[in-house]
Amino acid sequence: MRGSNFCAPICMPETIQALSSKKDYLDLVQQIQELDYAYYVQAEPKASDREYDRLYKILIQTETDHPDWKVEGSPSERVGGEPLGKFPTIQRNLPMLSLDNTYSKQEVIQFVNRVQKLAPKEKLTWVVEPKVDGVAVSLTYESGRLTLGATRGDGVTGDVITENLKTIRSIPLKLRDRSETSKSGKSAKATAQPDLFSTLDSRTGSTSWPAKLEVRGEVYISRSGFTSLNEKREAAGEAPFANPRNATAGSLKQLDPKLVAQRPLDISLYGLGEVEGIPDDFPKTQSDLLDYLQRLGLKTPRRTWKCASTDELIAAIEELDKIRNDFDFEIDGAVIKLESIPLRERIGYTSKAPRWAMAYKYEAEQGITRLTDISIQVGRTGALTPVAELEPVHLAGTMVRRATLHNEDELRRKDIRIGDLVVVEKAGEIIPVVVQALVDRRTGEEQIFHFPAECPECQGEVKKAQGKDEGDLGVVWRCVNHDCPAKARGRIIHWMSRRAMDIDGGGEVMACQLVEKGWVKDVGDLYELSVEQVASLERMGQKSAENFINGIAASKTRDMWRVLFGLGILHVGAGVAKAIAKKYKTMDDLRVASVEDLNSIRDVGQIIAESVCAWMGEPANQELLERLHRHGINMTSSIYQETSNEELPFAGKTFVLTGTLPTLTRPEATEKIEAVGGKVSSSVSKKTDYVVAGEEAGSKLEKAKKLERPILTEEEFLNLLGGG
Ligand code: IVH
Repeated sequence: MRGSNFCAPICMPETIQALSSKKDYLDLVQQIQELDYAYYVQAEPKASDREYDRLYKILIQTETDHPDWKVEGSPSERVGGEPLGKFPTIQRNLPMLSLDNTYSKQEVIQFVNRVQKLAPKEKLTWVVEPKVDGVAVSLTYESGRLTLGATRGDGVTGDVITENLKTIRSIPLKLRDRSETSKSGKSAKATAQPDLFSTLDSRTGSTSWPAKLEVRGEVYISRSGFTSLNEKREAAGEAPFANPRNATAGSLKQLDPKLVAQRPLDISLYGLGEVEGIPDDFPKTQSDLLDYLQRLGLKTPRRTWKCASTDELIAAIEELDKIRNDFDFEIDGAVIKLESIPLRERIGYTSKAPRWAMAYKYEAEQGITRLTDISIQVGRTGALTPVAELEPVHLAGTMVRRATLHNEDELRRKDIRIGDLVVVEKAGEIIPVVVQALVDRRTGEEQIFHFPAECPECQGEVKKAQGKDEGDLGVVWRCVNHDCPAKARGRIIHWMSRRAMDIDGGGEVMACQLVEKGWVKDVGDLYELSVEQVASLERMGQKSAENFINGIAASKTRDMWRVLFGLGILHVGAGVAKAIAKKYKTMDDLRVASVEDLNSIRDVGQIIAESVCAWMGEPANQELLERLHRHGINMTSSIYQETSNEELPFAGKTFVLTGTLPTLTRPEATEKIEAVGGKVSSSVSKKTDYVVAGEEAGSKLEKAKKLERPILTEEEFLNLLGGG
């Protein structure tokens, strides 16, 4: 959400019309570039979603009507060009190196001493940066234009993935120049740097970017982006990605940039590759380099530490470790770099890594346990997922008994056998994963698992889905029998879940019993159940049966986005459902929407749009919707009415949630805030209106205290909303 309490920058008619002069068109290109920079790089939105969409549509209309006006670097280039057969490769003159790693603070001290010996007379200073757990890439700008984006590959040879990288909104297609920098004010003021754009390029006569500037950094998917991506995949019956890094790697490997455009990729840039035409006042320290890159419109690490001693280095590493879970992306270590760039060149490199930098890695939450069995879980779209049954192991504060093995390809690739000792990893809130089998510890008794040739639930036929969007996790076996009880169970569990229709008393056990009895095959059947029927189920009293039936009745008034999400339409996760409900407001309007119309929603790509239309076009689904309608299920949406948002009691107020709240989950608290017009931000600043803190609130709470922002308990928060 961009928020909604912004003024529209230009008064333009509501209807979308092409601009009539090239100058207006060029101004609009620049305006959208500015909005992208504010939103994606500075995280300070300057327009509402609605206004942005309108400007973007005008841009597209103008480029359609006047193709000869279209400029290189237009924001429309981000939607993704034509699919490729395979990626071309590039050879780098300056290889992309790796870093020496350590888990030991002692080795950090040894590293510092080693560098000091190589430069005995120098007073060494250092910068510590978060080590983003993503995929390394390089971006080349020639005369300020993005001309090449490539993967690291083996360091020398990388894949050219320019079109894929162009879809990442925080990557500028054109670098900012001096006038742009001073216009935004903020970034120019933030640094006490000499003006780095003051010399003119002798060949182009334009502002002096180096003729060629290769910047290097890490592409990543945020934790929240990862959760919603996996939600979409699960809604689509696809195997979820194991972690954000795999999801990033899988996304960048897609040959169709349009698919990449749908992935929530972001970037952090922290270094240089080849640079040609270096101006005299080019940065000479790492800190200045980061400022410089930021002023060119490139996204750099938000938080870094300058250190002048080993004690300060260790303190910085420890502080980052404490706060790293507060970042919305995975940080697997701290990178220590020598500040002085000229000194780095004297210190030099080994064949693999610089001698002037080192990565201190934080321990992953891993454990070793025995895999006692492999079971197959059949999801609501029929996907067969192998699951490792484990001897319980304590990881990241929870007892882990099961872990995903993703799919057959993954199982084969890792050669995991029943009886193996395995390494299990749990990172953040992500489902535990079997990382590897300890092959050396095998006794010979271990059994190879044979993937079933039929659905283990209904013995129905299974087919391998050759999806075009499977990332790097291979293909999924799927049961094709529509009446498979596992699929019915999955559909009912999903419909009743808290994130969908939120039906009290409707957990997994209940869904299993209802399906087993043959009373419920699709979600419409739930609304025909009687208290007597439910009370006759095993271990079910009259009171609980009444509660459950009341819960079903209460679900009839849920917002349309929940209905849409609950239906389990391929590719429609909660975020997409909200975006769709926000646009159409009623199911009747959605039913007649075209693919093109759906596709015009920012979060809805072609594939999702086609999936929704295909679902709506199925007679069986139309019948289901009509049946739900007859049962009185609400088919309209009201929570996201942007137009009336400003009248809401907390319009424009920013909340930050931190720690574990006693009763509310994060999505529930977020929903409550959004329902009253507020928005949720992930970090505390002077602009934060309220901080809602639960147990184990960490650095955000500290920051809120420091900035003297109002801090609320859950109870106070609920009272505030209730009373507001
Ligand atoms: S500097 C020659 N800085 O970690 C120096 N790398 O394990 C090259 N990484 O290959 C890297 N965050 O892909 C650097 N702030 C950061 C980083 C970072 C993540 C990655 C990078 C590197 C790998 C080494």
